[in-house]
Amino acid sequence: MTGVTVRVPAKLNLQLAVGPPRADGYHDLVTVFHAVSLFDEITAEPAGRDGVTVSGEGADRVPADRDNLALRAVAALRAAVRATVPSAPGVRITIAKRIPVAAGLAGGSGDAAAALVACNELWNGRLGQPQLLEIAARVGSDVAFALLGGTAVGRGRGERLTPALAPATQYHWVLAFADGYLSTPEVYAALDRQRTRAGGHGVQVPAQPELDAALMSALRSGDARLVGRALSNDLQPAALSLFPALRKTLAAGLELGALGALVAGSGPTCVFLAASADRALDLAASLSGAGVCRSVARASGPAPGAIIVSPAR
Ligand code: C5P
Repeated sequence: MTGVTVRVPAKLNLQLAVGPPRADGYHDLVTVFHAVSLFDEITAEPAGRDGVTVSGEGADRVPADRDNLALRAVAALRAAVRATVPSAPGVRITIAKRIPVAAGLAGGSGDAAAALVACNELWNGRLGQPQLLEIAARVGSDVAFALLGGTAVGRGRGERLTPALAPATQYHWVLAFADGYLSTPEVYAALDRQRTRAGGHGVQVPAQPELDAALMSALRSGDARLVGRALSNDLQPAALSLFPALRKTLAAGLELGALGALVAGSGPTCVFLAASADRALDLAASLSGAGVCRSVARASGPAPGAIIVSPAR
């Protein structure tokens, strides 16, 4: 076999409820993940030693050394299959990026998930999804969801997943990419600071975040209007404090008729829900003309998780 190519989606968080910081530095979350049809493609080929090449959207910002999350996933998989594949060969990972880097869309986590699926196939590792999910959870908080795709509730760091039973409604999204980046740890730290200040003024942070019943019922109904109204992200005020220009982007999308708007994950991408594919097309064109972001894209969800696209199965 020469190479295996895997396609992996970007993710949105329809709800992102963040608890207080834990002893290990992470935050307990309750989140509703939603995969959308903006994909990276990862190819794994046998090579003398592990390496990575990145092309496409924001490629120059992706580390090409051991810090690369996809290479860390390869190393984690090699360790996990040691018993059955004692001499798993080196691999060259080629990443064709369409998901912007450091944009709140879990592009790096997706690439790591894709690398797991590709190398499992390349080495004939024969690990099933439960085992891949376990390895993924160790590589990063969002990696497991990129394997699963669809719409799912995430707990813990976001790695404990329960697929959401929702009707097969397709939602139409417009993504506004920002002219800049946000670092996830910095956004969480800004949230902690905001909460510490608010705590001094008597505002309580819930000890454990809770799933939003209104959002889940909206998803069960398949009514985009209700889903748009129920979108929420605890990280949004922190992202806005670090990147104030995003306020204008969110306001512009809502003024142009979006059913809902929020910052994607830790940002700085802003996402808008549209009532139909046609409305999404109009919204994307108007947002692009409004000069409130670097570029726009349309995507629909839920999209499937990481899947092998070549060799054809
Ligand atoms: O797990 P991952 O490497 O993707 O997380 C990146 C950073 O985001 C962590 O180092 C941490 O600062 C923050 N984070 C968090 N709580 C989570 C997930 C991520 O504080 N549940």
